[in-house]
Amino acid sequence: MQRLIINGGKKLCGEIRIQGAKNSALPLLAGTLLVGKGSCEIKNVPGLSDVYSACRILNSLGCRCRWEKGTVRADGTELGGFEVREELMRTMRGSIVFMGPLLGRLRRCRLTFPGGCPLGSRPIDLHLSALRKMGVSIREEHGVLDCSCPGGLKGADISLSFPSVGATENIMLSAVLAEGETVIRNAAREPEIEDLAGFLNLCGADVSGAGSGTVHIKGVKELCGCTYEVMPDRIAAATYMAAAAVTGGELALRQIRCGDLRAVINVFEQMGCDIYCQGGEGEGGTLFISGKKPLKAVEPVRTMPYPGFPTDAQAIVMAALTLAEGSSMIIENIFENRYLHVDELVRMGADIRAEGKVAVIKGVKELYGAKVRAADLRGGAALAVAALAAEGTTEIEGLHLIDRGYEEFEKKLSAVGADIVRE
Ligand code: EPZ
Repeated sequence: MQRLIINGGKKLCGEIRIQGAKNSALPLLAGTLLVGKGSCEIKNVPGLSDVYSACRILNSLGCRCRWEKGTVRADGTELGGFEVREELMRTMRGSIVFMGPLLGRLRRCRLTFPGGCPLGSRPIDLHLSALRKMGVSIREEHGVLDCSCPGGLKGADISLSFPSVGATENIMLSAVLAEGETVIRNAAREPEIEDLAGFLNLCGADVSGAGSGTVHIKGVKELCGCTYEVMPDRIAAATYMAAAAVTGGELALRQIRCGDLRAVINVFEQMGCDIYCQGGEGEGGTLFISGKKPLKAVEPVRTMPYPGFPTDAQAIVMAALTLAEGSSMIIENIFENRYLHVDELVRMGADIRAEGKVAVIKGVKELYGAKVRAADLRGGAALAVAALAAEGTTEIEGLHLIDRGYEEFEKKLSAVGADIVRE
């Protein structure tokens, strides 16, 4: 079992290139299954265990897929299977987005309920009811979902009761080759949804309105291969912002889209950090952040669907707030069990009370190194942020969870002055 060993207290200075977004790369990779003509070249794909799992799923289905130095080449012209094996489904929650493309392309799929981080109950009812509305018959037996639509998928008018990211993606992916038009109301507006639409449209799909609450997808006969570049990872960016904030450091985060980070920037500015964005809203921008010690407490942070404050940045911001002067409150509205990092931060000297959705963080003067364990991906990254500021040595177990979402995590941090090694 690998561990991260961090000797805290080093001020971080320098540049970090932000990786491509994990949560965009995964649905894009699933989308290559829809392409019947030509192959896809997807650039800026981070080297992460979740990405390698997605490639394994594609290969198991007969879509020849290979990740090399940040580029995935995928050729799904001759798909050979419609079944995703249980051990592959269990590797991550994102595996559920293979359902839509398999149904779109082959009109059949068999898979199991997905795995993923233990963030509480994570149902897929919205995915299933939308697909049923599009004409798919789904049999659920012993955890296996056997889905078929021999007559092909039919466009439908779907109103989501919650703007689920995964359900919006799955519906888009199934609708592009369906007969007629599909409308998704109360769709997720996350930037990753727009990125998926950008990729699908470049392949010849007809998707409009992505990024707004209503997405229209007109079915087309076939999709062709293309070259596409994955958007920057806004949660990795938020993590390195927190690392700069807690160490009183100065970082330039390159290859970023500041516009995707407004809600996060607002919270770090309240903490007293100086932030400057260069390069506007587009790709290839740079965010400069300089942390000012001591950090200050902030207004209540409520996690919300985009453009609200992202749940994926909750643990990371909490780690920074443990050192902020005064009391702050976080309200986690998206997942029911996303405070698994709290007890570990408390081991490091943090003063946090969490009950239900609410966590109250009273800033302390100092954190100290301890043996802690990551229970989920972002919680693990939050422990690393705290450890960078802590007095003494922190050992973080469960590094494989951090590897699911952060490319070359310790290399990037040590290049800007952190004392961090993988053991
Ligand atoms: C995506 O998960 C991300 N994962 C998550 O990132 C992220 O936390 C989440 O969106 C919210 O932004 C990927 O993109 C691979 P949801 P997803 O469907 O699609 C409920 C990370 O750390 N819900 O928007 O699973 C659900 O239980 C990961 O990178 C239903 O009730 O999120 C949750 O409470 C963790 N029924 C809420 O909606 C459904 O059918 C949001 O889930 C689907 C969802």
